[in-house]
Amino acid sequence: MRSNATAAGYSATAISLHWIIALLIFAAFGLGLYMTGIPGLTPTKLKLFSWHKWLGVTVFAIAVVRVLWRATHAAPPVAAGTPAWQAKAAAAAHHLLYVLILVVPITGYLYSLAAGVPVVYLGLWKMPVLIEPSDELKEVFKVAHIWLNYLMAAVVTVHAAAAIKHQVVDRDGTLGRMLPFLR
Ligand code: HEM
Ligand code: HEM
Repeated sequence: MRSNATAAGYSATAISLHWIIALLIFAAFGLGLYMTGIPGLTPTKLKLFSWHKWLGVTVFAIAVVRVLWRATHAAPPVAAGTPAWQAKAAAAAHHLLYVLILVVPITGYLYSLAAGVPVVYLGLWKMPVLIEPSDELKEVFKVAHIWLNYLMAAVVTVHAAAAIKHQVVDRDGTLGRMLPFLR
């Protein structure tokens, strides 16, 4: 397996993929909460739903590239002196995040199809209709999309808090591995 790392941290590819996906997810999450709070069915609401779906589909496409990249490139070793349980917890959180950045958009996509609304990416490309409209599946995927989003928000919060704790309390350079300007 090739390396995803330099002596000081992650490679430029790993860092770019990490932050592009993080920014798109923050945007999709904020937009998701905002758009669902708009009462009624206004043209603005429909436009925001489309933007939300396009952001989510973009996250999925980049997440596929990222997971393939990661499967063929090892991460740098954890900072020296990290307790074994923390290294295990970090690895588990990272695995879960890789799953969630794929599954959260998939549930949103299937919810949209089950609700009978095919996704037209960027208004240009009608994406595959994988399932027929169904009231039961619509409810299942809606609940799954919402709860997996909250799970992802919780894991990202702990993940970011851990990174900041490493930076501020332990001062072991962990955050600098993903934010090179901190090195
Ligand atoms: C990483 C990508 C995504 C994130 C972070 C995300 C996040 C969210 C959030 C936070 C909500 C509001 C949930 C609530 O009501 O509390 C939401 C709703 C929704 N999302 Fe996503 N989403 C993503 C991808 C997608 C995709 C790819 C689609 C469809 C192609 C989609 C379709 C929807 C729809 C239709 C709703 C409205 C749910 C409702 O009727 O209440 N999402 N999303
Ligand atoms: C949606 C948001 C985010 C997602 C999905 C995410 C996901 C991930 C994943 C999967 C890894 C593991 C990389 C690998 O070894 O293959 C990682 C590493 C990392 N992330 Fe995030 N992340 C997010 C947001 C953040 C934020 C907000 C921060 C900082 C405040 C952060 C800081 C870090 C750091 C420092 C590492 C490297 C950890 C190490 O060296 O062991 N991430 N992230």
